[in-house]
Amino acid sequence: MNKANFKVDTRLTSILGENYRSTEFALKELVDNSWDADAENVWVTLPEPFTNDPILIKDDGSGMTEKELRNEYLFIANSRTTRKGDRTPIKNRQVKGKKGIGKFSGLTVGNLMTLVTSARGTQTTITINRDEILKSKRDLEKVDLPVSATECDESIKGTEITLTQLHQNFSFPNPERLKQILVLEYGRQNDFKIFVNGEQIDVENIPGNTIVETIHIPDVGEVKLKCTVSDKPMKHSGVAVRVDGKIIGRPDTFGIEDNDEIPNKLNKHVYAEIEANGLKDDVTADWGAIIENSTAYQKIQETIRPKIEEQLKGEFYQQVNAQKARLQKKINQELSKLPEHRRKFAEAAMDKVLKRYFESDEKVDTIISVVMDAFEKDDYFDVLANIDDTKDSDVSQFAEALSDFGLLEMSLITRQAQGRRKFLDYVDRLTNNPSVLEKEVHKTLENSSWIFGNDYSLMSSNETLKSTIKKYCDKEFQGERANKRPDLLLSQGLNDKFLLIEFKRPSHTITRDDENQAVKYRDDLFQYLGKVPMDIVVVGGKVDNRIDSTMIGQGVKLFSFNKLISSARTQLEWLLKDLTQPV
Ligand SMILES: Nc1ncnc2c1ncn2[C@@H]1O[C@H](COP(=O)(O)OP(=O)(O)OP(=O)(O)O)[C@@H](O)[C@H]1O
Ligand SMILES: [Mg+2]
Repeated sequence: MNKANFKVDTRLTSILGENYRSTEFALKELVDNSWDADAENVWVTLPEPFTNDPILIKDDGSGMTEKELRNEYLFIANSRTTRKGDRTPIKNRQVKGKKGIGKFSGLTVGNLMTLVTSARGTQTTITINRDEILKSKRDLEKVDLPVSATECDESIKGTEITLTQLHQNFSFPNPERLKQILVLEYGRQNDFKIFVNGEQIDVENIPGNTIVETIHIPDVGEVKLKCTVSDKPMKHSGVAVRVDGKIIGRPDTFGIEDNDEIPNKLNKHVYAEIEANGLKDDVTADWGAIIENSTAYQKIQETIRPKIEEQLKGEFYQQVNAQKARLQKKINQELSKLPEHRRKFAEAAMDKVLKRYFESDEKVDTIISVVMDAFEKDDYFDVLANIDDTKDSDVSQFAEALSDFGLLEMSLITRQAQGRRKFLDYVDRLTNNPSVLEKEVHKTLENSSWIFGNDYSLMSSNETLKSTIKKYCDKEFQGERANKRPDLLLSQGLNDKFLLIEFKRPSHTITRDDENQAVKYRDDLFQYLGKVPMDIVVVGGKVDNRIDSTMIGQGVKLFSFNKLISSARTQLEWLLKDLTQPV
C-alpha cells in the first residue's frame, strides 16, 4: 500500500470545523460532488436508527484515477472552477464546487471516510480518519493517508463513499429531511436521479400538501399530475412538464397569474410536475420547449389549471383566514368607528383586500389603515347605494356585488394612499421651514397618527380623554409650569394603550432634557390614569447626536421630522407600487 498526502492551497484552520446546518446539509455536499462529476444517478443509503451501519453515497459519475485523486481530490481549498471552469465536461452542468473543502463534510458526520473511485481502468481506495488528522501535531499536509489502487474493468466508473463511526453528538440523519433538501435543489434537473434508501426523490418530498392524480385527456392521453403547495415561496416554482421522463424547458405558471382571486405572490408556492407522454410529437427538436400553439398542451393546461387553482385556494384561504384572525381585533376596532350601515361593506371589502394582499402582518397593518381611511369617504357609498339598497342583506351578497366593483375599490385605495403621500409631502415642507412653531405641527399631525407607525395608526385623541386631561392639566400645570403641559395624548380604546406625543419646533434639537420632561409627564399622568402602558414620542427638527438610540428610556422614541416622514413613506411606497402595477 502506498501513501499519499494532502496538498494545501491556503490556510487550513477551521476547514475541518466547518459548520453545516445539519447532518443532511453536510451530506448534500457529497451529492453536489456527484453532480459535478456528471453522474446520472446517486444512491444514498442511511442507516437504520440504533444500528452501527454506515452511510453510503454512491454515484455513477466520472470517478477519479489515482493521479486525479492525488492532485485534485486531495488538493484542499483549491478552487475547482479556477482549475477547470464552471461547466462540467460531459453534461455541461453549472459546477457547484467552489472552495475545495466539501469532501470534509463527510467527516463532520462520521469519523472514518472511505472513498472508492473508479475511472479508466483503475479503482482507487483512500481512507481518511478525522481523529488522526486532528491528533496529528503535524501539518495536515504531512498526515499519511493510505491509498491503494488496483486495475478494474474499463467500463466501470463512479465513486462510492462510506462513512462509519458516526458521531454520536450529531443528530441522526433523517431520510425525509435529506429528500426535502435535495428535491429543492435537484428536483427540476434532467439526467440526475437521486435515490435515498432506494426511493427516488420527487415533488412529493417538497414540504406542503401534495395531490397526485392521473387524468385522461381526450386526444392527449394520460396525464399524471403531482402538485405540492408549500407554505413558503420556492426557487423553482411552477409546473414542470415531463415527456418520456425528461423535463422540457423551464417550469411554466400555466396561466394561474390571470386568476384575479389568487394573489400573484402565491404562484411561487406552487411546485408541480406533469408527466404527459402524449406531448412527444409536440416537443421541439432539441427537447428544450413545447412547440408553440400545440393544441395538446393547451388542452392539458385547461384541464390542469383549475386543479392547481383549487388546491392553491384551499391552502391560501386557510392562511389568509389565519392572518385575518390575528388581525381581527384591529379590524373590528376600526370597523366600529364606521357608521353601522357601512360596516358590512367595509368588512367584505377588507376580506377581499386581504386576499389580494396576502402579506406580512406589518404590511397588512398599513393596508387596514389605508382601506379604513378610504371607507370614511362618501363617494364609495354613493356607488354602492345603487347596487343594493337593502342594508340588512346577506353579507355574501354584498361581497358579490362588491367584486364587480373591484376596480373602484382599488382605485379608491390607491387614491387614499396617494393622498397620504401628498400629505407627507406637505408635512415635509412644513417641518423644513424653521419659522414654523410646534403649535402648527401639532395641529397638522393631530389626526394623522398613522404617521407614527403601524403600532399607533389606529389611535386617536378621544374627546372625553381630552377634556379630563385638560381639567387635570389646568389644575396641575399652572403658573410657571403652564407651558410644560403634555402636548397630545392618544389612546387606543381596546387595549388601553396610550401614546404621548411631544411636538417640538422644527428648528429645535431634541435633548436629554426634552426626553426627561416627557418621561415626567408620563409619571404625572400615571398618578392620574393609573399605570397604563404608555409610549412616548418626541419629535423635533433634529435629535442631539450625542444621544445613543440604545440608551433611551423604556417606551420612549425620539424622532426628527425627517426620520418620521421617511419611515411613514417607506410603509406606503410598497403598497402604492403594488396598487399602481397592472396585475
Ligand atoms: N464523487 C466524486 N466524483 C468525482 N470526483 C470527485 C467527487 N467528489 C470530489 N471529487 C473531486 O474532488 C474535488 C474536491 O472536492 P470538494 O468537494 O472537496 O471540493 P469542490 O467540490 O471542488 O468545492 P466545494 O468545497 O465548494 O465543494 C472536486 O473538485 C472533484 O474534482
Ligand atoms: Mg464539492
